[in-house]
Amino acid sequence: MKPIKAPTGAAWLDIARYAVSCPSPHNTQPFRLRIRSDSEADVIFLPRRGLWVADPHGRFTWLTAGIFVEICSIAAHGLGFELDRETHFSPMYPDNDTETPQTIARLTLRRASGPIADFDPALILDRHTSRLPYDGHPISEQLLADLRTEARRTGHSFESRSDREAIDWVIELNRQALFHDMLNDPIRLELVRWLRFSGREEDITGDGLSARCLGFSGPLLHSFFSRPRFWTMPGIRSLVSFLYARSMKGVGTIGWLRGPYVGIDDWYRAGITMIRLWLIVARHGYYWQPYGSVITSDEARLNMIRYFGMPDEKGGTDMVWLLLRLGRSEAPPISNRLPFEDIVLCG
Ligand SMILES: Cc1cc2nc3c(=O)[nH]c(=O)nc-3n(C[C@H](O)[C@H](O)[C@H](O)COP(=O)(O)O)c2cc1C
Repeated sequence: MKPIKAPTGAAWLDIARYAVSCPSPHNTQPFRLRIRSDSEADVIFLPRRGLWVADPHGRFTWLTAGIFVEICSIAAHGLGFELDRETHFSPMYPDNDTETPQTIARLTLRRASGPIADFDPALILDRHTSRLPYDGHPISEQLLADLRTEARRTGHSFESRSDREAIDWVIELNRQALFHDMLNDPIRLELVRWLRFSGREEDITGDGLSARCLGFSGPLLHSFFSRPRFWTMPGIRSLVSFLYARSMKGVGTIGWLRGPYVGIDDWYRAGITMIRLWLIVARHGYYWQPYGSVITSDEARLNMIRYFGMPDEKGGTDMVWLLLRLGRSEAPPISNRLPFEDIVLCG
């Protein structure tokens, strides 16, 4: 295999069209592709788009880096290239630096000698988060089997429950974790930076978590986050709980991923597993929604481990690192992205 000779950056521009749709927590879109040559590009992390309060070690952000690079790899395969990756597993926010861009990986394209078996890159664009009510059915046995197989292949395990009691218990646990985050001022203020309360706001920024995608009215969402103590008062909080329960209707399956989650390289590899499973979910015509707050709260996560009688996390070598609801729903609102040119930098 030889290095490619294409017009400068042409393949990278094609790859960037997929990379821009990378899912990220609160739709922060923290990664950029810096084109160095036809065959080389760096992945750059912009810490200003990080979540250093809720995620000071950058676990979810490194995980998202794994997703971003894997998306580049699947897109490169579709274009007939192998993608070599050299990743720099260094801590995010060194010395509390939340400003200086960080190079986290060098990617190199090599022309492949034949077709490369991988996902159809079109799935990357078909994949979305659905926070709508689901259709009440458990996911199919075939999807379950495919998720288990792919998780195992990448050193993790996918487990699920489809009984009412377990589902209701997890939905309630997630509600409590969300209320807990809302009442934690530093976490809430960090999240508010990424909330988009009107169509105009989300159109201007092209990023963030919009009221539209969350299925809330903008003014109501604004009120929740500016007056959280009012909205969590006894009596009043039942209205918020009602709105939450309405969006969680019809969940027929909850699932979680377990595996090594100790160091930066584990978090990054978990991201590769996550996106590959997410694409399988999309290929079967299903959606999922992560319940991130349960995972970032040790208390909530350990509570779940006790409730389900899961094995000990063995110091993080067998950690529950993702919890989800899965199912079929109407087509969800599509979250905004930056223009794809904005994620491309010239080196
Ligand atoms: C690591 C990670 C954690 C996430 N956690 C949550 C979550 O807790 N709740 C939620 O509704 N969405 C969660 N999401 C989904 C993102 O908000 C979503 O990917 C982003 O808003 C873009 O929307 P899209 O997936 O429809 O493209 C998470 C995504 C990632 C990658």
